[in-house]
Amino acid sequence: MKKIIIATRNPDKLQEYQSMFEHLKFELFSLADFDMPDVEETADNFFDNAVLKAKAVRRVARECVLADDSGLEVNALNGLPGVKSKRFSEAGTDRANNEKLLKLMENEVERQARFVTTICLIEKNGDIKRFEGELHGYIHTACEGENGFGYDPLFIPVGYTKTLAELDSEIKNKMSHRARCFQQVVDHFESE
Ligand code: IMP
Repeated sequence: MKKIIIATRNPDKLQEYQSMFEHLKFELFSLADFDMPDVEETADNFFDNAVLKAKAVRRVARECVLADDSGLEVNALNGLPGVKSKRFSEAGTDRANNEKLLKLMENEVERQARFVTTICLIEKNGDIKRFEGELHGYIHTACEGENGFGYDPLFIPVGYTKTLAELDSEIKNKMSHRARCFQQVVDHFESE
């Protein structure tokens, strides 16, 4: 069975990958299976951060490795919070991040934004592949909804009038940047 190492310690993320790869018959590993320090995400874009994480794992195991990085880019803020999405505010909680974003957007008319997920896949033979999924939308003027996480209460996808946190999680999970990126990885493995 083909082995794949997912560069994450997050059990929820691993679970998501497990369901994505279920039908592909991979043997899945995560950072919890290896003795290695966390990798600092020092790059200025999502893909390079994913590459940093994937390469760090590859140095300790010469298997197929997959790493991802995601975040929110707001046009009026020149792409912020971007790679800083997780720790945008000083406190770094979802609530504080959303409050900071709302404040920065207070007087903005242009409210377009996108969620992005990039994946770096290092194949067993060392080839590096890039995948990307995005979800376009708008930054709302107040936090609404209880579902999801991160910036979901502030993000209204194009074609909707509710935030991701107000929408059913099944709807979000079908159209999300993550789902779109995952689908490309699945298509890649299925075409092999
Ligand atoms: P990660 O790279 O998947 O850990 O995502 C980094 C950060 O981006 C998260 O901590 C969230 O703040 C934000 N983010 C990523 N995906 C989503 C999403 O689907 N909804 C809301 N926020 C997200």
